[in-house]
Order: sequence, then structure tokens, then C-alpha cells
Amino acid sequence: MRLKVLLLGAFVSQIEAAQSNVSYTELYRPQYHYTPARNWINDPNGLVYADGTYHMYYQYNPGGDTWGAMSWGHASSKDLTHWKEQPVALLARGYPDNITEMFFSGSVVIDQNNTSGFGNKGDAPWVAMYTSYYPLQQVLPSGKQVRDQQQAQSIAYSLDHGATWTTYDEHNPIILDPPAPYQDQYLDFRDPNIFWYQPIKKWVAVISLAKLHKLLIYTSPNLRQWSLESEFGPFNAVGGVWECPNLFPLPLDGDESKVKWVAIVGLNPGGPPGTVGSGIQYFVGDFNGSTFTPDLNSIHGGDKDSERTRSFANSPATDDNANWLDWGPDFYAAQAYNGLPQDQRTIISWMNNWQYGATIPTSPWRSAMSIPRQLSLKTIDQKIAVVQEPKESWKAITEAGNVSTVPSVTGVHRLGEIGKAVDIQLTFPSREAATNGSSEFGIIVRASEDFSQQTRVGYDFATQQVFINRTISGDVSFDSTFASAYYAPLSPATDNTVTLHIFVDWSSVEVFGGQGQTTITTQIFPSDNATYAQLFSTGGSTNNVQLSISKVRSTWT
Ligand SMILES: *[C@@H]1O[C@H](CO)[C@@H](O)[C@H](O)[C@H]1NC(C)=O
Ligand SMILES: *[C@@H]1O[C@H](CO)[C@@H](O)[C@H](O)[C@H]1NC(C)=O
Ligand SMILES: *[C@@H]1O[C@H](CO)[C@@H](O)[C@H](O)[C@H]1NC(C)=O
Ligand SMILES: *[C@@H]1O[C@H](CO)[C@@H](O)[C@H](O)[C@H]1NC(C)=O
Ligand SMILES: *[C@@H]1O[C@H](CO)[C@@H](O)[C@H](O)[C@H]1NC(C)=O
Ligand SMILES: *[C@@H]1O[C@H](CO)[C@@H](O)[C@H](O)[C@H]1NC(C)=O
Ligand SMILES: *[C@@H]1O[C@H](CO)[C@@H](O)[C@H](O)[C@H]1NC(C)=O
Ligand SMILES: *[C@@H]1O[C@H](CO)[C@@H](O)[C@H](O)[C@H]1NC(C)=O
Ligand SMILES: *[C@@H]1O[C@H](CO)[C@@H](O)[C@H](O)[C@H]1NC(C)=O
Repeated sequence: MRLKVLLLGAFVSQIEAAQSNVSYTELYRPQYHYTPARNWINDPNGLVYADGTYHMYYQYNPGGDTWGAMSWGHASSKDLTHWKEQPVALLARGYPDNITEMFFSGSVVIDQNNTSGFGNKGDAPWVAMYTSYYPLQQVLPSGKQVRDQQQAQSIAYSLDHGATWTTYDEHNPIILDPPAPYQDQYLDFRDPNIFWYQPIKKWVAVISLAKLHKLLIYTSPNLRQWSLESEFGPFNAVGGVWECPNLFPLPLDGDESKVKWVAIVGLNPGGPPGTVGSGIQYFVGDFNGSTFTPDLNSIHGGDKDSERTRSFANSPATDDNANWLDWGPDFYAAQAYNGLPQDQRTIISWMNNWQYGATIPTSPWRSAMSIPRQLSLKTIDQKIAVVQEPKESWKAITEAGNVSTVPSVTGVHRLGEIGKAVDIQLTFPSREAATNGSSEFGIIVRASEDFSQQTRVGYDFATQQVFINRTISGDVSFDSTFASAYYAPLSPATDNTVTLHIFVDWSSVEVFGGQGQTTITTQIFPSDNATYAQLFSTGGSTNNVQLSISKVRSTWT
């Protein structure tokens, strides 16, 4: 006990020192996206809302700014906007010199009824289920033997609202090997996503067999003993490993009597067309407590839409036979919050890509989290789509916007210096309605005074695609695939307008198209003085443009 207190004290002061030692104004430091003060992060883990606080754990290397010594870092927030970095929650066992177990991705639930029996007097225990990665063959305290580099599923519990955790060493890992006939997959068996399923009064875990492109669904009465129920996959995109799965219900078109289930699956490599590396696909279907059954039209066999996206000229298609959650290169390992009502389903993703994640030019941290996004399911153009809405306390951090109408843009329309962290909304008529032969319309952001450095966010009227072009966005030197343009399908709204909601930060651009059914997320690394913007209309004029620009304040002050 004494040791634990001392250790905790040491970590608290270490974190405080680390945080007080950084300015949060370094070149490229995101101002309203979460980053740790220093060091490497990847997947968000254990997203859980309780007692008015959003907790976010994440894959964290306490000792460096590249992947390694994987531990669970921790941050908390009252508003999904201002985050406070907390002491490391699960530190790699044996860190730093003799690591025998790393804590890979997983999730956290609050065991209200003490089904696990981990509770003591008082509050409900919190239970984390995660993948244990064992770098070396060994016999564990539970007596179980694990193999070299084995991945297995373990649990830990917290009796202090998620601050400190105790691993269940008496029995871990509680799922040692993949089930028959997949026992040989023990090197790629990971990322449990757990949630409570009320109709059968059981816990559900979705775990990935990464190389086989399968998800396994388990259930448990008590979070300790798990039974295999079913498997899902492979379907749609299979250009890389499947990992970081999530399964959750969403009402269709806001109707609580029409609930569908959504499975999201990280894919690395083999992301969206035109990207290299990581991406996320989703499936819409039904779940009955044991089996997830995708809707037939959620499974692609080369339908019209994918033919269309495959045929566009600028972007080499990789595997577009999928429903992409985001069409950019920097949106991976999304996880949904446990503990929120169904109509507030909110995800956060890692805003980076395994293709170049370790070489992005940031210091002393590396990698940021996406803007939290609230999800809904809407019927758009006769299809069911996951719709995403950026969810932060915008009122608290956004200055009053400059709203204007620009009657006509031909060539460029200068906007001057708009800054480095801005919320931009752009609505314009689609070509049929009111443009005068223009082929592309959009806004250039994070540009240098002479526009030799710039990032373009726009819409291609002929192909009905939104795009972000970061070819000359700043430092693109660290990876040969980084200087690229990314396209995503977006039909005009029923009133023949296109709306782009664009969030620019010191090292990222996220665009939400239409109602949020199409998003593109990209990192950029522009110069500090790249603060200029202008509208552009290529090949003709675009008329009656509604523009709103609001500065976003730092969440670190
Ligand atoms: C804080 O910064 C100083 C000076 O740059 C450095 O010597 C020290 O190691 C840093 N402390 C931590 C905790 O990073
Ligand atoms: C590393 O830790 C394991 C497990 O605690 C122990 O058996 C082993 O002797 C340690 N190795 C070294 C080099 O300290
Ligand atoms: C807790 O117990 C109640 C009453 O038995 C039950 O309805 C509910 O589903 C349980 N919830 C959880 C999360 O265990
Ligand atoms: C939870 O269950 C354990 C084991 O049965 C018991 O010791 C503990 O008191 C329970 N805690 C609560 C809060 O009910
Ligand atoms: C769930 O659906 C699957 C597939 O249709 C079926 O085999 C299974 O029996 C169903 N389970 C329950 C509990 O209804
Ligand atoms: C608001 O936007 C208009 C049109 O782009 C521009 O002329 C004006 O200077 C802006 N005003 C402020 C206060 O930024
Ligand atoms: C349409 O474009 C032509 C040629 O670029 C231009 O002369 C004309 O003024 C434009 N009309 C409108 C309504 O913008
Ligand atoms: C992206 O922008 C660059 C620089 O402006 C340009 O050369 C390139 O053609 C654009 N790429 C696409 C696919 O539009
Ligand atoms: C902007 O910053 C870059 C990189 O620091 C520098 O090379 C350039 O001279 C600056 N431009 C102006 C106009 O100050």
C-alpha cells in the first residue's frame, strides 16, 4: 500500500513537471485537439463517462516519442474540450529495463451491480479489459504459460473512479488463446471492446483476429469468464489487418424504435482510396446478443457507388469496397464512449497513420486525438449512413464568427490573415444551381503570405467529391506518401447546396461534409506564419457563397 502511494505520488509530480515544462505553444501543438505534454500516443482506450467526467485512456510510451513500452496513459475532461493529463494508469510491467508485459488496447466499463465481485464497500468497481502483450515466453503468477510475443486478453479493476488500477493477476489472462480452429492466431488476437447488453443481461466483448479479418463475439455474466458466441468477417475491405473493433447501437433517423447496430473496424494498411496506411470501415446491421448480422446493402460486391468512387481520376483506388468512416489518412482506431446515453454516442480516434506516425515532425509529443464526434444514423440518398458531428464545447472556445455572403468568386477571393486555429463554415450552390462553369470551389487555409505554402479544402462539382489537398501544406518531407490529395463522395443537399464545415488547428484540418455523412481528416505541418486564407473558384465563377469564420481559442490556457 505504502509503495503504491509513493509510486502514485512520484507519477503525479512527474506528470505535473512534464506538463508545467511544456508551453503548449510549440510549433504544430494542437490547440483544441488532445495531445499529451510529451511522448508518444496511439489508440484511445477505455473511453468512459462517469460522474460528470469523460475519461480517456490511450496507448502511451512513458519513455519516448515513438512506439514502445506500451502503457495506458490517462486524461480527463469535464467537457470533451479541456483535458487534464493524469498519471499513467497501467504502466508496462517491468518498465523500463525488463518489460514482461505491455498493455495494448482495450476498453473500460463501470460494473454497477458488482457482477465481477471486484467491488469493495462503496462505489461500483470499474473494469478494464485489454490485450496483454508478452514480449517473452513466461509462466505468469496465475500459473498460465504464455508464448513469445503472445497477445491475450486480461482484466484490471479500479476502486477509485479510474485513477489507479489493479491487474487481476490471480487469473490473467482471462482469455489466453484464440478459440479453435484459430489457436495459431495467438500473435494477432487483440483489442477487446466491451459493453453491457441489457436484453440478455450480459457483458459482450468484441475481439479481433487481426490477420484473418474476423471479429469474435464473446459474452460473460461477470467480466471474468467469457464464452465465444459467434464470429464476423471477413467482409468488404481486407487490405490489411483488422483491429480496434467497436460495436454499438444507434437509432435510425432519431427513431428509438428503429435501432440498428454499427460495427467499426480499423484496417491497417488498406485504408480509403487514395490514402496509404490506416483507415476505418463500418458495417450497419443487427445484433441479438450473440451474433452481429450486417445488412445486405452494407456488404459490397461492386455496387454503383463503389464503381463511381473507383473511377475517379486523381486518386488511385486501393480497396474502396467499403463504407469508410472517414476518407482521410489520419483517422484511426476510433473508440466509442461507454456510459453515455445511446443518442449521445461519441467517438474519439487517433489522428495519425502507421504509414508515417513515428516520423511526423512534432516535439516533445507525437500524435494527437481527433475532435470527439457524436454519431447518428441517417437515411441519406436512400442509404443508411453514419453521420458525424464535431463535439466540443464550441461556445466556450470559439469567438463570434465573421459571417458574410460573397456574391461571386472568380479565380480567388482573398480573406487575409484568419489565423491558425479556426472553425470555417462554407455553403455554396452546386454547379447545376448557380455556378458559372467552375469545376472546383473551396477555401485555401494555413497559407503563407505568398501562398507558396497552402492547404486546399474544396469540392469538385463534376465528380461530386469533397477534397483536401496537402501537397504543399508545409513540411511534407518526412514521408514520400504524405504530399497528397484526398477525395470523398458527397452529394449536394436536397436544396442543391454543398456545406463544408472545416476545423483547422495548428497541425490538422478536418472537414465535415453535408450533414456529416462524409469526413476527411488530415494532418498538416505548416510554418508558424502560414495564417492566410482565400476562397478559390477554378475554371469559372461560383456565386452566392455563405462564409463563416470563427477563431478557436486554445484549450490549454
Ligand atoms: C524541464 O526542462 C528543463 C530545461 O529544458 C530540463 O532540464 C528538464 O529535464 C525538464 N524537466 C522535465 C520533467 O521534463
Ligand atoms: C525480468 O523479469 C522477470 C519476471 O519478473 C524475471 O524472471 C527476470 O529474471 C527479469 N530479468 C532481468 C534481466 O532482470
Ligand atoms: C443491474 O441489475 C439490475 C437489476 O437486476 C438489472 O436490471 C441491470 O441490467 C443490471 N445492470 C448491470 C449493468 O449489471
Ligand atoms: C462486491 O462483491 C464482492 C465479492 O462478492 C464483495 O466482497 C463486495 O463487498 C461487493 N461490493 C459491493 C459494493 O457490493
Ligand atoms: C442470433 O442470430 C443468429 C443468426 O441469425 C442465430 O443463429 C441465433 O440463434 C440468434 N440468437 C439469439 C439469442 O436470438
Ligand atoms: C469579415 O469577412 C469579410 C469578407 O471576407 C471581410 O471583408 C472582413 O474584413 C471580415 N471582418 C473581420 C472583422 O474579420
Ligand atoms: C460567367 O462567366 C463569364 C466568363 O467567365 C463571365 O463573363 C460572367 O460574368 C459570369 N457570370 C456570372 C453570373 O457570374
Ligand atoms: C494538389 O495541389 C497541388 C499544389 O497546388 C497541385 O499541383 C496538385 O495538382 C493538386 N492535386 C490534385 C489531385 O488536385
Ligand atoms: C515564414 O516562416 C518561414 C519558416 O520559418 C520563413 O522561412 C519565412 O521567411 C517566413 N515568412 C515571412 C513572410 O515572414
